[in-house]
Amino acid sequence: MEKKELLYEGKAKKLYLTSDENLIWVEYLDQATALNGARKDQISGKGELNNQITSTIFRYLTQRGIKNHFIEQLSKTEQLVKKVQIIPLEVVIRNIAAGSFSKRLGVPEGKKLIEPIVEFYYKDDQLDDPFVNEDHIYYLQLAKPEEISELKTQALAINKILIELFAKVGLVLVDFKLEFGRSNGKMLLADEVTPDTCRLWDERTNEHMDKDVYRRGLGDLIPVYQEVYNRLSELTEEK
Ligand code: C5P
Repeated sequence: MEKKELLYEGKAKKLYLTSDENLIWVEYLDQATALNGARKDQISGKGELNNQITSTIFRYLTQRGIKNHFIEQLSKTEQLVKKVQIIPLEVVIRNIAAGSFSKRLGVPEGKKLIEPIVEFYYKDDQLDDPFVNEDHIYYLQLAKPEEISELKTQALAINKILIELFAKVGLVLVDFKLEFGRSNGKMLLADEVTPDTCRLWDERTNEHMDKDVYRRGLGDLIPVYQEVYNRLSELTEEK
């Protein structure tokens, strides 16, 4: 497999074409952003940790029947994935009130939700990723009604698996964001699942074990991400 030209540079990773038109070479970067890119910092070691964490999680999801883009981890910072047409939606699943949900609805952070809540945001930097409902998604032709319900079903199934996975390593999955893509008419989980895209609270201490450490200026991100990786890798290596 040969790495070819740069296809896209995002906030936390670079995507390259490969000698196989169906595969993409992903490189995770040592970069953290907040406020839709308005705040940006180089954080040495972050790319490596995120790549290792998301690779571990995608392997775990594959074993549990979740269709996704992951092929293999190539190095500490790189992985190979299937090329998909990304659906421009951020699918957010919430188990406990936090972040924008708490702010918008006045629900105190930490309040457990009766049922998981699925939200959609339109991925558009110019518009600051606005909250959209199913009618908006349909109107904007981002997904068909049956795809919207599949997104929800998939998101809730992934939520169940991840709640259990993180609970096994003493972490509470507060909320997280997923992205999906289409490949040969099938919907695949794509992008990443990392502490950049999940809120994880330590079960015992309630400490933030995710990007809120950076967003809220609570300290150094690396030891926190390292701890998440250590716990996950100990668990998955045992099997
Ligand atoms: O900010 P908000 O409370 O809406 O975030 C909900 C979840 O989605 C958090 O886990 C956050 O890390 C994730 N998220 C993300 N990328 C965004 C917005 C939110 O990964 N652009």
